[in-house]
Amino acid sequence: CGIVGVTGNDNAVKLLIHGLEKLEYRGYDSAGIYVNDQDGHDYLVKRKGAISNLKAAITPDVHGSTGIGHTRWATHGGVTVENAHPQFSQDDRFYLVHNGVIENYKELKKEYLSDVKFTSQTDTEVVVQLVDHFVVTEGMDTRDAFLKTISLLKDGASYAFLLMDREQPDTLYVAKNKSPLLIGLADGFNVVCSDSVAMLNVTHNFLELKDGEVVTVKPDSIDIEDSEGNHVERKPFYVDTDPSEADKGIYPYYMLKEINEQPNVLRKLSQKYLSEDGQSKIDPKILEAMKAADRLYIVGAGTSYHAGLVGKNMFEKLVGIPTEVEVASEFAYADPLFSEKPFFIFLTQSGETADSRVVLQNVTKRGFPTLTITNVQNSTLSREADYTLLLDAGPEISVASTKAYTAQIALEAILAKSLGESLGLKRAADFNLRQQLGLVATGMQAVIDEKDHFDEVSKQYFVEASKAFYIGRGIDYYVSLEAALKLKEISYIIAEGFASGELKHGTIALIEEGTPVVAIATQAKTASLTRNNLEETKSRGAKTFTISTESLAEDGDDIVLQDVDEMLTPLLSVVPAQLLAYYTSLNKGLNVDRPRNLAKSVTVE
Ligand code: G6P
Repeated sequence: CGIVGVTGNDNAVKLLIHGLEKLEYRGYDSAGIYVNDQDGHDYLVKRKGAISNLKAAITPDVHGSTGIGHTRWATHGGVTVENAHPQFSQDDRFYLVHNGVIENYKELKKEYLSDVKFTSQTDTEVVVQLVDHFVVTEGMDTRDAFLKTISLLKDGASYAFLLMDREQPDTLYVAKNKSPLLIGLADGFNVVCSDSVAMLNVTHNFLELKDGEVVTVKPDSIDIEDSEGNHVERKPFYVDTDPSEADKGIYPYYMLKEINEQPNVLRKLSQKYLSEDGQSKIDPKILEAMKAADRLYIVGAGTSYHAGLVGKNMFEKLVGIPTEVEVASEFAYADPLFSEKPFFIFLTQSGETADSRVVLQNVTKRGFPTLTITNVQNSTLSREADYTLLLDAGPEISVASTKAYTAQIALEAILAKSLGESLGLKRAADFNLRQQLGLVATGMQAVIDEKDHFDEVSKQYFVEASKAFYIGRGIDYYVSLEAALKLKEISYIIAEGFASGELKHGTIALIEEGTPVVAIATQAKTASLTRNNLEETKSRGAKTFTISTESLAEDGDDIVLQDVDEMLTPLLSVVPAQLLAYYTSLNKGLNVDRPRNLAKSVTVE
């Protein structure tokens, strides 16, 4: 979910709606705002579906100078207007927006609120009714009631709250634990948001909040209190993002814009982390810490996990260090056996994924060194790890990740080369990565320039299909996983990536007349084996498609990618898959950027 708040600006409604539009990637099941004009008028507007529905429902009389807003990714309670936020107390005095999950809400409801009439099925309503209960029946003031309520939440509760009291209409009561939240310092007023992108139009100066903190925000003051009740002074940090980077520009969808940006993102990364003569510019402290390790653990979720799989090969080849890649939500509760000196790399576009954060906290407790590779400066995982490397890919808005995947892989390559080189390994020193990344960027551009072709292919192969498969071996298999994820996320086709050699051991049973199967064959050692496996599916009726590279190309291959070092082919072979997913979604008339049921940044486990 995404939350926003404003206090002290007569255009609060406009700012809230703008902020919600920018946060829509965090959830779009329903949305709502509550605003108060300090003059006895207040308004609550909520709608199901996208922010555009909410915007259309706001009549000219809805106005105010302080307000809160929310865009929801449903956890507890179905997608209805009643379950949309803000939630409010039964006497209409308190209004609350919430991002996170309150695990013990049923117990709290039973213990304190048995005579309250609830209007929603959300865990959030329990919180706002509890605040009201402590104020009205126990005579507490609002702040104390808010603190008391928070103290009753189970230790593991995740929340970012913004609370308003109709009787103190210029005040935002703010609290956060495990869910991201920032306070923005604007000119003469203050704002609150889940991600700075929501408020870059009014400020670049933000205060980070730490877990357990509670903040009182007024138009001219910000009072931060830590979990022990100490008042904390904190300096703002500057977010160096041009707000226009988060606009769609000429593109119909963010996803197409972000696919197009990939060659430039790679060039930028290469310039940032490698000197012109190819020397590493990675912080030597990071390399020193990694040198001491006997094993690397790469942790991620979704697309970032897939980028980790591709990275494993680079660290093992260029550094010779055993590397394990783990799905964050599994690893967090698996009680894994670690090597003696592990080093952890967290891959996370948003820097906020709760599943990854749990692992980071577990391993930090055990004193192990950690590095976060992320696209978001000052994000939670960036702040909490020992080291950070930024992708600098510009805001990624489309829910289906594209440029963050390729940027993560490129940065893993840079890191692996840098580490190998600092260990004196010839293979790493000889690897002319700067030149290679240049070739990759050109190769990507060549694929992107042919994008209309993928529009056609999507119609021929996927639009009518109910299932589809990508196959490959080694890193081609890892790209197959990502390729299939792209297709299922935005086209809802049942798509899987398979290790091509495994097909005959079970999954080939899924092949029917006309089932699309795409083979990725970019590795000299395995390309012909993969081709054989593709033939096996063809003889059972599959409609086949081959992606290869110039040096391995055979007559009849459908897409031939420019040659680059074999370690880097995932950076190229994923691009056709991204475009095929994009056009399939588009041709099916779906919302490419906002696939059903998903959100871009998932801050609940
Ligand atoms: C969500 C998104 C995915 C993303 C995953 C991990 O599920 O929908 O696209 O890959 O989170 O996100 P992260 O920000 O940690 O890379």
